[in-house]
Amino acid sequence: ALSGLAGRNLILVGLMGAGKTAIGKLVADKLKLPYVDTDQEIEAAAQMTIADLFEQYGEPEFRALETRVIERILTEGPAIVSTGGGAFVNPVNRKLIADSGLSLWLKADLETLWDRVRRRQTRPLLKTENPKQTLKNLMDARYPVYAEAEVTVLSRNVRKETVMRDVLKALA
Ligand code: S3P
Repeated sequence: ALSGLAGRNLILVGLMGAGKTAIGKLVADKLKLPYVDTDQEIEAAAQMTIADLFEQYGEPEFRALETRVIERILTEGPAIVSTGGGAFVNPVNRKLIADSGLSLWLKADLETLWDRVRRRQTRPLLKTENPKQTLKNLMDARYPVYAEAEVTVLSRNVRKETVMRDVLKALA
């Protein structure tokens, strides 16, 4: 139905732990397109980690930088772009994404997400009393927005090569 990307960007959206980075890299390899990660680009631009950015400048400043970085990356495309979990929530970013490529939601259930994020303690939004509950709250708040992505692929708890193939099928 989508007949490929036709020179446009592919933008992966979804919650922390959905596999945007891992799957994005595999898809980029397969399609021989550059892979770009908005969080990495933000860290390079700011010369500090996301955690430090949140701590020293606060989330609003992070979000402003995120939008600037997304705008630049999407203009430089075509690329496979994985976004931070909050990026698609901002309507300004959604418009930039819709205008420059195809949005794809990597959708996962709570147990899958939790299993993947609990191992890495790098996410400032999950530094709470009950990070699993926080993740659940983010699911409830954001899933209706992620559902606006043009394509949805289930990020199942299987080998990432399998999910990568599901993504390619969804693009075919
Ligand atoms: C965030 C997700 C993170 C990062 C930041 C905020 C969010 O990216 O952008 O910590 O709002 O969900 P990942 O989804 O790559 O973990």
